Amino acid sequence: MTGFEVIALNGSVGKSIVRRSGYEKVTGTATFTAEWPVNGLLHAVAVPSNIARGKVMSINTSVAETMPGVRLVVTRKNLPKFTRVKTINESDKSTNYPSHLFPVDEVEVFFAGQYLAAVVAESFQDARDAALAVKVDYEVGEHVTDIDASPADERPDDLFGSPAVITKGEAEKQFEAAQVKIDSEYPTAGNHHNPIEPHATIAQWSEKEGKPFLTVYETSQGLAMSQKTYSQLFGLSPKQVRVVCKFIGGAFGGKGAMWPQAVLACLCAKAVGAPIKIEVTRGQMYGGTGHRTPMRQRVQIGARFDGKITSIIHSGLASTAVKDVYDEAFTMSTRMMYQTESLRLDQKRCRLNSQVPTFMRAPAETPGMFALESAIDELAFALKIDPIELRNLNEPEKDLLEGKPFSGRLLVECLKRGAGAFGWQAGHQLPRQKDDGNWLIGQGVSAATYPAFFFPTQAQLTWNADGRVLISCCSQEMGTGTATVQSQLVADVLGIPLHRVSMDLGDTDLPPGGISGGSATTGSLGGALLDSIKDLKLKLIELLPMNSTMRKADAKQITIRDGKLTMNGETVDIEELLNETHKRSVTGSGKFAPSKEGEYSAHSFGAQFVEVAVDEKLGMVRLRRMLGCFACGTILNARTGRSQFMGGMIMGVGHALQEATHWDHRYGRITNDNLSEYHVPVNADIPDIEILWIDTPDFNASPIGAKGIGEIGITGVAAAIANAVFNATGRRVRELPITPANVMATA
Ligand code: MOS
Repeated sequence: MTGFEVIALNGSVGKSIVRRSGYEKVTGTATFTAEWPVNGLLHAVAVPSNIARGKVMSINTSVAETMPGVRLVVTRKNLPKFTRVKTINESDKSTNYPSHLFPVDEVEVFFAGQYLAAVVAESFQDARDAALAVKVDYEVGEHVTDIDASPADERPDDLFGSPAVITKGEAEKQFEAAQVKIDSEYPTAGNHHNPIEPHATIAQWSEKEGKPFLTVYETSQGLAMSQKTYSQLFGLSPKQVRVVCKFIGGAFGGKGAMWPQAVLACLCAKAVGAPIKIEVTRGQMYGGTGHRTPMRQRVQIGARFDGKITSIIHSGLASTAVKDVYDEAFTMSTRMMYQTESLRLDQKRCRLNSQVPTFMRAPAETPGMFALESAIDELAFALKIDPIELRNLNEPEKDLLEGKPFSGRLLVECLKRGAGAFGWQAGHQLPRQKDDGNWLIGQGVSAATYPAFFFPTQAQLTWNADGRVLISCCSQEMGTGTATVQSQLVADVLGIPLHRVSMDLGDTDLPPGGISGGSATTGSLGGALLDSIKDLKLKLIELLPMNSTMRKADAKQITIRDGKLTMNGETVDIEELLNETHKRSVTGSGKFAPSKEGEYSAHSFGAQFVEVAVDEKLGMVRLRRMLGCFACGTILNARTGRSQFMGGMIMGVGHALQEATHWDHRYGRITNDNLSEYHVPVNADIPDIEILWIDTPDFNASPIGAKGIGEIGITGVAAAIANAVFNATGRRVRELPITPANVMATA
């Protein structure tokens, strides 16, 4: 079998449909995690370590305990029992690693921000004040928080299913022998996600049928995984745990794994015998939850004078935590971007005294494509050819390493269409050719890419007697429009108006969905819904009279259209069928699981174009225009789709020009743990953004023809900006973020 069955989606799919949760959000009626009303709710605030390495000698709680509103100070001494479940790096990938430094249960300190105790009080303010009065005595040890000061003496075990070192041909030899060589280093800063909604958890223990029952409201991109992890932590069956999250106020990967506040809330609730809320403060998100690791990349490209690449070597270093492991696969896209006779990918890792790094929007590709696409631009300039032309010259016919054809690539088309719409000035361009007053003006281009991932997903579809159709899946609404686009899909496949379809999500009582990450939700859930529709059809056929022709026919001959079962012109109205058989509803169940060994190499591609203005004296970079053209298969909703691409590109501007987590390495602590010193783009930083896409469904990759769009938008942006800064000024800034100081320091 090649790919998936092609389906026609001719109703609301592709149209500009308003996201359904928009009204609730703008009117303030959407219930975010910290807002659930729970009777008798108490508040907990964690006491974080303020050293980066050492040992807890004693914790003095005597002052805190007497403070107003305080109910309990939780330390290792009165912490309820729980099981230390395996973490993801201990190769139990079925758990959602509970940030492995189990909160309040450690004597050793591995990073600043580690939760050592917690205060439970009647109000957040009481808990916060008392938390400041808890006194921890440490034996201070030696820490390393500087990636450049840490020995890079380890290699990751596994980078998205591949080894840390991949070689094809003799890359070093070919590089040495190449007619033209680029050899550059690209250091990038660590980043924090900074969603508007901080991480939060409300945990409540109760009893159900004589057994303990745990209800958790949690800011999570993966509720089904959380449910499983809680059940393992507390020795419960998954049925004794319910996890709920109806709205998420931004996540960007930062809520993909479980973080210590979640486990701590459950423990505090158990210790004090009341429901507990923990809202991580903005400051405690730096250290309390994960981040994008700093990286040190090097890209070497060898090419012939005619522009053909003969060797690519992409190597470098990313950090992980001392105990827990997250490996950033920054070489991943180099596996399949360009044709080359020889290739070497080589990743190392080092251990820092930090919270464990984690996924952050296009985790591997965002830093990886910055390095690779900067180097490609450097090569184009050295060869004196147009950077788009260089990319086209090295377009691979199939996936270099896997030897598989691409499910759909269209990179050349994205570059071409993007260049046309942007007004790309083609050919070899010398820098410093255009100015506007004090500003030097430049253009830059980069390719963008993100893999087409899919996760196992289950769903149900209920056709109610009143004609309404309900989708049920424990997926998450991240603000991306999951409920909206899945309703569009179902409405089109069933041939009914969109307003008749709605979706229930964000609750583990529903069939388990995957993590809302890896840009995988739309295709995976869509696949499960197509399967649910098949099952629904069978369930409806079973309601037909025994002697009807359709009942006896092969189900494949029967289609559902316009609310009717249809076969060879014969129709049965579903509403009437339910009415006559006294059914209030009929439910079909379905699932989707990606096949392990796909026949295709499935990725999305795109092209980023930017125009910058640089004031050299001040080192200031201003964006004048941005344009992205993407090929991600079917775009289910023009409005939410555009918003996803645009959001990614804006985050790319932050990555390129502003975002950097600063550690004071003397103390091993993060110094800009707030939104006034950690800079993210605001409206004034963002120019006109034009977004185009190539609307070609990819049924080789996806059951609904749609690949993900949540992450590709950020990829390539930093390279396009750095390339534009070079074109404007002749300064090749290879370090992110491109701050005024970096611009001025670059010759
Ligand atoms: Mo995304 S970083 O996979 O949530």
